[in-house]
Amino acid sequence: MANDEGVVQAVKDAADILEVVGEIVSLKKAGVNYKGLCPFHGEKTPSFTVNPARRSFHCFGCGEGGDALSFIMRYQGIGFWEALKQLAGRYHISLPERELSPRERQTASKRKELFAINQQAALCYHQLLFAENGAVARNYLEKRRIPLAVINDFQLGFAPESWDFLLKAMADVGEEGLSEAGLVVQRESGKGYYDRFRNRVLFPIISHSGKYLGFGGRILDNQEPKYLNSPETLVYTKGKTLFGLFQNKEAIRRSHRALIVEGNFDLLSLVAAGVRDVVAPLGTALTSQHIRALKGYAQEAVLLFDGDQAGIKAAMRAVPLFLSEKVAARVVILPDGHDPDTFVTEFGAAALEERLAAAYALPEFVVSHLVDKHGLDLEGKGRIVEELRPLIKAIDDQDLQRSLFVSHFSTKLGLSEEQLLGAVSPPLAVSAYQPVQTSATAAARHLKISYTMIEEQLLSFLIIYPEYVGQFVEEGLLEIITQPSAANIVKALQELHSKFPGCGAERLLDQLEGPERTFVSRQLISVPVLPDTEREAAEKIAWLRENRQKQRMRQLTARINEAQSKNDQELLFSLLLEKKKISERE
Ligand code: CTP
Ligand code: MN
Repeated sequence: MANDEGVVQAVKDAADILEVVGEIVSLKKAGVNYKGLCPFHGEKTPSFTVNPARRSFHCFGCGEGGDALSFIMRYQGIGFWEALKQLAGRYHISLPERELSPRERQTASKRKELFAINQQAALCYHQLLFAENGAVARNYLEKRRIPLAVINDFQLGFAPESWDFLLKAMADVGEEGLSEAGLVVQRESGKGYYDRFRNRVLFPIISHSGKYLGFGGRILDNQEPKYLNSPETLVYTKGKTLFGLFQNKEAIRRSHRALIVEGNFDLLSLVAAGVRDVVAPLGTALTSQHIRALKGYAQEAVLLFDGDQAGIKAAMRAVPLFLSEKVAARVVILPDGHDPDTFVTEFGAAALEERLAAAYALPEFVVSHLVDKHGLDLEGKGRIVEELRPLIKAIDDQDLQRSLFVSHFSTKLGLSEEQLLGAVSPPLAVSAYQPVQTSATAAARHLKISYTMIEEQLLSFLIIYPEYVGQFVEEGLLEIITQPSAANIVKALQELHSKFPGCGAERLLDQLEGPERTFVSRQLISVPVLPDTEREAAEKIAWLRENRQKQRMRQLTARINEAQSKNDQELLFSLLLEKKKISERE
């Protein structure tokens, strides 16, 4: 992109940091700032601060800081361009299209076509549900206590017991398009097509942004298979989409929580009972992609699994995924013989909430389950280590979460980390002897920057009023600054100001990292607007001038002393003359 910088700035200018952050952190006004609980580290009293005028945030607890864009990147764990695209979309700024190759363009237009076909099919099936021959499906849904509002909200539909209902209803689209969308299947003879979905209640599968990807379908009687989903197509990939996220994302955002249930009907029953912050993974085990999809909306996932072995296995398998995606998760195991659908139907939403409130954190759950299963004697511990091994292996060994996982489980099980890791891989056992950097120590490292008071005063003034940087440097700013990191900030300020005169210093954040970035974001938040900037600047400039003078005098005095001790009369004379001139100027 030729003009990346301009576009990036346009997006940042349009982004409302209060809105972006406020969606995730509940913020309260405190003077010119807003405060809330930091989403990047655990805390009980708010030290996370947003300054809307300066378009920046800073956490005084962990040192994280930045602007709306970096907030999204950090919170959702996504890259720069992805975050930029999100913000651009949200604030209706068009990013220049990257030149697509002809092939890419063809794929993109094909995808669009398939979205449209699926959407049209969803409408056909939905309408049929309310037509005369939809009675059988309507009755079924009634029997399952799915109210009309939920049927409409999820656009449930009915595929009749027919080989060519959709073929006929969507004849305008043509067999080939329908087949590419996975809605019809070619006959084995190769001659002609037939409808894939028959005698089923259909659930349109919609992406979080509202694109129609495919369908899940439940049989109306007890034939096999009970569920039939769209095959993998250009637009539908198993394990990527969560059923219900599109319809429930606002509820999830509001509650900061996403319940994860296994079945489509579990989801509908919960929604019918008024529990809206729920999604379902469409018949596959949870994947990292599922969890990533939730990340932007919820801080925590609660897995609602059946109490049977399969449910427990599923919970165990999910542990490393949540650890490596850094999303908190808890588990609710329902009483024997119940799934979320039957539970909420029998006991109601309040009873469910009670269980949710008492839910175990996922790793705790795993420990207690393993201890129940194997006991804590020597042999039991051996078996537990054996079961944990694949979980640990599944986490990237560079990942902090792996150390956390290991330290968590070793403490719980009364094993040393080496004992737990010894069974995993020897090299890691070695690295585990090195101090583990927890997020708390990482944060402390960020904060460890100590400028002299005067450095700090000058820098914070310039961060808020970068237009003075040139003058300050002229008057000897860089002679006062002793620390390289403070000099870096001045250099970045100079560069920024020469490139973009008049721009706000929040743009500095892009050019800095680590402690310097933390320092700048902290200043942006905490330095108040000064009533008389001109006077403040003039005072500082005067101070710089005077300081420079004193420094020269000190140097001169030192040289005079030296000349005296060496008895260099000529040099002494010229130095004394210089000193006289300087003091006269004062
Ligand atoms: N599933 C699937 N293919 C199957 C069976 C199940 O894709 N052959 C998926 C469906 O998304 C289903 C989920 O796995 O919703 C969980 O399965 P199950 O518990 O059997 O489904 P429920 O939705 O609970 O359906 P019901 O209550 O009608 O049995
Ligand atoms: Mn069920």
